[in-house]
Amino acid sequence: MKSILETNLLLATKIWEIAEVAGYLWQKGWAERNGGNITVNVTETIDDDLRSRQAISDKIAIGRTLPYLKGTYFFCKGTNKRMRDLARNPMENGSLVRITDDCSSYEIIADKAVKPTSEIASHLSMHNYFIGKSSDYKAVVHTHPIDLIAMTHHPAFLQKDALSRLLWSMIPETRAFCPRGLGIIPYQLPSSFDLADATLKELDEYDVVMWEKHGVCSVSENVMEAFDMIDVLSKSAQIYLTAKAMGFEPTGMSDLQMEELKTAFNLPK
Ligand code: 13P
Ligand code: ZN
Repeated sequence: MKSILETNLLLATKIWEIAEVAGYLWQKGWAERNGGNITVNVTETIDDDLRSRQAISDKIAIGRTLPYLKGTYFFCKGTNKRMRDLARNPMENGSLVRITDDCSSYEIIADKAVKPTSEIASHLSMHNYFIGKSSDYKAVVHTHPIDLIAMTHHPAFLQKDALSRLLWSMIPETRAFCPRGLGIIPYQLPSSFDLADATLKELDEYDVVMWEKHGVCSVSENVMEAFDMIDVLSKSAQIYLTAKAMGFEPTGMSDLQMEELKTAFNLPK
């Protein structure tokens, strides 16, 4: 059977965009081994052929019912698959899944039975939340940036908005392009529902959250925007760490300068 990359060009464009971002995650040094995962809601690209396809896997239980996911389809990175491999060959390292009608499990429909990421419970819970509040958000990116994770090993940075303020103040772009700041999720077991629920609670306020001592999770309308927010935050972390390595505490932009940016760019916070 032909790959969906050949049979559905709209979907293929989305998948190649995911592959492009997967390559960036690897190049950035944020994606050791199978580190990180991406899911994208691709329902709008699904054609009659895909809708009528037989599943190529058993039904896999999500572990909870997510009612807003009725009739939805997702491209998911495979569990234990490498971002650097997904970048070259997305359909060997990820798969297209369909949520079953009872909204409590999913089945793989293409190209191969590549089992989705172990973080699928958090990812699908987030997608369910977006649809439930009529948000246009379709992409969830989780990755392991060294600089941002290192900062979560310092208790002072785990205080609410301590990291947001510090990272915003390092360079105007971070204030402008990650305008809702960086939420903090206290450590939870990877791939657990506790992690999923703690993340959901913060999404009303933030588009990007740190999973303490684990990684970052970013949500947006598309995968490139989700990547960009992590990229500007990591740039700020690099500026901070570079100043510290040179032996001084960076002054950061003043409150007045930050306020001026907020007005100039019409920022939400
Ligand atoms: P997966 O390979 O299952 O996607 O896990 C990677 C990861 O980063 C878990 O948090
Ligand atoms: Zn992880």
